[in-house]
Amino acid sequence: MFICPKCHNSITLPVCSCGYSVPNFNGIWQLSDAPDTVKTGDGDLYIGYEEIGEAYSGNRKYIIEEADSLTAGEIAELCGKGVFLDLACGDGCLTLPCAKSGIKIIAGDISNKMLEILKERADHLNISLDNVTLCRINALNIPLADESVDTVVANSVLHLISNPQKVLDEIRRVLKTGGAFVCLDDAPGGQDDEAEDNFLYFEIVNNLYNKYWELLGRKGIYPKKYSWRFDREAACGKLFASRETRVIRHWGRYETKLSDGFLPRFLCRGFSDQTDVPKEAHEAVTELLMKDFRGRYGEDFDSLAYIGRYSDILITVYRK
Ligand SMILES: C[S@@+](CC[C@H](N)C(=O)[O-])C[C@H]1O[C@@H](n2cnc3c(N)ncnc32)[C@H](O)[C@@H]1O
Ligand SMILES: [Zn+2]
Repeated sequence: MFICPKCHNSITLPVCSCGYSVPNFNGIWQLSDAPDTVKTGDGDLYIGYEEIGEAYSGNRKYIIEEADSLTAGEIAELCGKGVFLDLACGDGCLTLPCAKSGIKIIAGDISNKMLEILKERADHLNISLDNVTLCRINALNIPLADESVDTVVANSVLHLISNPQKVLDEIRRVLKTGGAFVCLDDAPGGQDDEAEDNFLYFEIVNNLYNKYWELLGRKGIYPKKYSWRFDREAACGKLFASRETRVIRHWGRYETKLSDGFLPRFLCRGFSDQTDVPKEAHEAVTELLMKDFRGRYGEDFDSLAYIGRYSDILITVYRK
């Protein structure tokens, strides 16, 4: 079902009939030699997470979040005995709970670092990857044969790519007829019977973020954003034969301290729009800001928690 990166004919890993042997680094098939990130040039641009790495996972590195387990249950049911492609799988927040249910998975990402984190998480959580093929792939040119997989998820990646339409075309190409492209969104408000007062939390986060970009802007450094306004619904409406939605209830409250969620990711340049910020400029600006914010909001301002209720999970299933 894979495509040889050299002759572009179908290949059974690891050796192609053309003689090419696909490299395998630490259990990760190298099915693309595209760069980790492309930010300039006339071609398609994208932000891979090779540099972001650990800063993306933060505290969830060694847990599986309840929302991901719930979502994985739906994916496993939809996929049945078929093959699930977790495209741009990152640290495996969906691959891992899906692997627990035993379905066949292709987990692909442009970043070897993220795939390595996925493996570390699996080790730590004692999850077998026997049914998972890990591969370095480019979502803009998926190295899979036409009509070869049953279910695809490409969560939280279209906004990182300048040509998200091309990724959707690729997803449709590799899906079998009748196969499902599954999109995940929050369905907020469904159970919000009691509004929480997170005013101060948002004041701090918004101020920090705005001030950060204001100071960097004076040095000519701006946030990197590609397709944040892409209309997925409209594009998928044209590509797929049908669309159906379901909501998974996700009950409960949670609290996340600034020091456990937003702050470490922000301070480690873990947000994709920070990828153009040079280390020195980032450190100089954040040092200044942290000093200023400690003065304004107190030495332990980072122990302030966001208090919320989980959003329900909206699952949209497009069928080819
Ligand atoms: C925000 S993370 C999302 C990870 C995971 N899907 C999730 O829901 O947590 C985006 C991922 O997309 C990957 N990515 C970015 N551009 C890509 C491309 N052209 N092909 C494959 N993966 C890509 C990044 O390396 C990163 O792991
Ligand atoms: Zn070949």
